[in-house]
Amino acid sequence: MITNTELEYKGNLYPNHIVEFTQDTDKLYFTTENGVVLQITILRGSLVRFRYATNYNFEPDFSYAIDPDSTMGYSKLDVVENNSEYIISTARLSILVDKKTLRTQISDIEGNIINEDELGFHWEENYEYGGNTVKMSKISQIGESFFGMGDKAMHSNLKGKKVENWVTDQFAFAKEQDPLYKAIPFYIGLNKGKAYGIFFDNSFKTSFDFSQERRNITSFWADGGELNYYFIFGPDMSRVVSSYSNLTGTPELPPMWALGFHQSKWSYYPESNVKEVASEFRNRKIPCDAIYLDIDYMDGFRCFTWDKNHFPDPKRMIQELEQDGFKTVIMIDPGIKVDRDYWVYNEALENDYFCKRGDGPLMHGKVWPGECNFPDFTNPAVREWWAELYKEFMSELGVHAVWNDMNEPAVMEVPTKTAPLDTRHNYDGYPCTHRKAHNVYGMQMVRATYEGVKKYVYPKRPFVITRAAFAGTQRYASTWTGDNVATWEHLWIANVQMQRMCLSGYSFVGSDIGGFAEQPDGELFVRWIQLGIFHPFCRVHSSGDHGDQEPWSFGVEITDIVRKFIELRYQLLPYLYTMFYKYTKENRPMIQSLVYYDQEDTQTHFRTDEFIFGEKILVCPIQEPNAQGRRMYIPKGEWYDFWTHESVIGGKEKWVAAGLDKLPIFIKAGAIIPKYPIQQYVGEKKIEELLLEVYYKMGVEASEVYEDANNGYDYKKGRYALSNYKLTGKENSLTIQLFKDGSFETEYETIKLNLHGLPFQIESVMVDNEEIELESLILSGGNILRIDKNFTSLHLSGKE
Ligand code: NOJ
Repeated sequence: MITNTELEYKGNLYPNHIVEFTQDTDKLYFTTENGVVLQITILRGSLVRFRYATNYNFEPDFSYAIDPDSTMGYSKLDVVENNSEYIISTARLSILVDKKTLRTQISDIEGNIINEDELGFHWEENYEYGGNTVKMSKISQIGESFFGMGDKAMHSNLKGKKVENWVTDQFAFAKEQDPLYKAIPFYIGLNKGKAYGIFFDNSFKTSFDFSQERRNITSFWADGGELNYYFIFGPDMSRVVSSYSNLTGTPELPPMWALGFHQSKWSYYPESNVKEVASEFRNRKIPCDAIYLDIDYMDGFRCFTWDKNHFPDPKRMIQELEQDGFKTVIMIDPGIKVDRDYWVYNEALENDYFCKRGDGPLMHGKVWPGECNFPDFTNPAVREWWAELYKEFMSELGVHAVWNDMNEPAVMEVPTKTAPLDTRHNYDGYPCTHRKAHNVYGMQMVRATYEGVKKYVYPKRPFVITRAAFAGTQRYASTWTGDNVATWEHLWIANVQMQRMCLSGYSFVGSDIGGFAEQPDGELFVRWIQLGIFHPFCRVHSSGDHGDQEPWSFGVEITDIVRKFIELRYQLLPYLYTMFYKYTKENRPMIQSLVYYDQEDTQTHFRTDEFIFGEKILVCPIQEPNAQGRRMYIPKGEWYDFWTHESVIGGKEKWVAAGLDKLPIFIKAGAIIPKYPIQQYVGEKKIEELLLEVYYKMGVEASEVYEDANNGYDYKKGRYALSNYKLTGKENSLTIQLFKDGSFETEYETIKLNLHGLPFQIESVMVDNEEIELESLILSGGNILRIDKNFTSLHLSGKE
C-alpha cells in the first residue's frame, strides 16, 4: 500500500477527504477539503463518466471525440452513504466513492468488482507549461487482459505493455514501435470473463501502462487537460465496443465502390501512365474500382492545383476513367506552400487562417513543396473555407474521392517531426497550444475535407481517407495504417492492427497491401492480398521507388492467384456491405478478434492471427514464406472449410493445408452468405440473381443481407432491402424463413441457394406452405435451388 507521504515525496498531489456532496440530476459532485471535485455523470446504466477538477475548477466541457448524436438515458440512479463511502446505484452498476480518499470502486449488480482505483486520481503540477499532468491508477487482476488502443503494432493483448498516444508520421515503423499514426485512448479490460472499457477523453499526449511498471497496477495519464474518462461496462466485449462506438460515432454508409479493390502508387503520372494501369486491369480481367493520384498530380505539390504538363485535362481523364468503371481518388495534404502567387496561400493568409507560434509569427515547416504554412483546422471558419476548396475538384472536374495524408501534421527536417509545441490553435473557441491540439489536428482536417467532399459529390455519397486519427475520426473518414514495409513481419502487424482498430471503434481500415517501403516478392504479395481482401478497406499502395506493385508485376502464376482472391472479394460484396450496415447501425466491428467472438473461451485471449470477417467467416492469414498450411485455432462451435466444405468442430487447434493459392477460411455452420457474380467494378453488371451459400446446421442461426442503391441517400428514406434469414436445421429437414424490411426493390427476381452439408437427401420442398415440384426448383445435382426472392418460408425435408 502506497502511503500519502510517499506520494508527496514523488511530487504527486492527491485528493483528501470529501467535505461536500451535491447532485444535479444525472451529475454527482464530490468535493474534497483540498479542492478536488469529482463529477460523476450517469449517462446510461452501464456508461458512467468521471471527471476530476483541482482548485474547484473544471475546464470548459468540450470534446472532439464524442459524437453529438450518441444515445444517452438511464432508468435508475440512487445515492446512499454510510460512514466510509457513498454508494451510487444504476440499473447495471454500483459505484463506491471513498470518503477519505475519493477513490472509486465499480461493481456489477451481482457484487463482482469490475474496476477499482489503486491511488485513483492524482496529479503533478507542470511548471514548464500550464496545467497539470493528470494521472489515474487502477488495480489490475492477475488474469486480466487488455485490448484496443487503435493502431499499436504489438500483440493484441496489451498486458505488460506501456503505450503512448501522440499521432506520429512513423515511416517504415517497426513491430512494437510506438506511438504511430493514431491516438485512440480507449482500452478494453477483460477479467474473469467480464469485460469493461475505459475511454480517456483527453487530446494531450496520453500514456497507458498495462501492468508493466507495477505488476498489478494499470495506470493512465496525460500531459495536461483533465482526467476525464468514460467507464463502460459489458460484461460482453461486444457491448463495450458497441457502447464506445455509439459514444464516439460510426460513419454513414460509403458508396459500395469504396469497398471494391483499389490500386495506388506514389505516384501514377503522367495521364498516360494512369490510363495504362487502368487498362491493364481491364485487359487482364482483374476487378478494380479506384485508382489513386498521389502528390505528383499537383503543380509543385500545391494542394488544389494540377500539373498541366502531366495532366493537361483532368476533367476529361477522370471522365474517361469513369467510363471504364474507375473512380479517381486524389491526395490533399495540410501544408500550404508559402507562395504569394498561389491563391490558396493568399486566401489563407488574408483571412488569418494559418497557425501561429506562441508569440505571433506564422508557424512554418518543410513538407513536399518546401516551406509551408498550416491552416488551423481546429478553427471552424478554417474548416468551412477548406471544405469549399473542394468545390472545383469535385463538382467541376468530377474527382470522386479524397485522400488526406501527412495530417499529423508531418513536418520534415525537425526532430519532433511535427509542429512546435507552442503553436497556437483555436480549438473551436477554447484556444490552446499544439500540446492539446496535436492529436486532433489531422482529425479536424479530414473532418473539413469530409464536409466539403460530401457537399460537392452530392447526391452521391462521399469517400474520404485519412492517415492521422483521434478517437471519433471514424465518423468522417476511412483510414490506412501508414508507411509499412514489404516484410513478413509487417503482414503480421497489418493483421493485428486491423483487428485492434476494429475493436477500437474504427472499422473502415486497411494496410498498404504488399508494403509501402521496399519490394515484396510474389509470394509475400499473394499472402498479403489474401489477407487484404478480408480488410474493410482494400488497397495496394507502394512508395514507387522500387519495382512495380500491380497485381501482374510478379508473373502469371501470382497474377492468377491474386485475381482469384480479388474476385472472391467482389463476390462477397453483399456480405461486406451488410457488415458495413451492421457497423453503422448496430456499432458492430467489421472484424472480430477471437477474444471478441468468444471471450468465455480463455484460449482466445492470447490469439492474434485468426479473426472473424463480419460475423460468419473465420480467416487465418499465412504469415510465413514457403508455407503449405499452418496450425490455427478454430473457435468453439461447428464450422465448414470454405474450400472443401468439410465440417469441423472447433475449440481446438488444427493443421490446415493452404498452398499458395489457398488461405485458411471457414464458414460458421448455419450461416447464409450472400454472393454477387464477379464484376470488374461495382455496377458493371446488372445483378440478375442473388446467390446464397447456405451452410447446414443442426439448430438455429440468423443471417442478414442488406441491400440498397449502393450510393446516394434514398436508403435514409427507407429505400433499402434488409433480408433477415432464420435457418433451422433438424435431422431430416431444413427450414429457412425470410423476414424483409425496407422498400427497396432489388433488380433481381430470384435467389439461388447453394446448400452445403445437408445430412439428408431432399425429397420434398415446400415454399410458403405449398408443396413444389422438385424438378422445377432443383438445379445441377440436387443441392442448388432457385426460388422467388419474395418467399417467406422454405422447408426442405428428406431422408437421412
Ligand atoms: C506518405 C504517405 O503515408 C504515403 O502513403 C504517400 O505515398 C506519401 N506520403 C507521398 O504522398
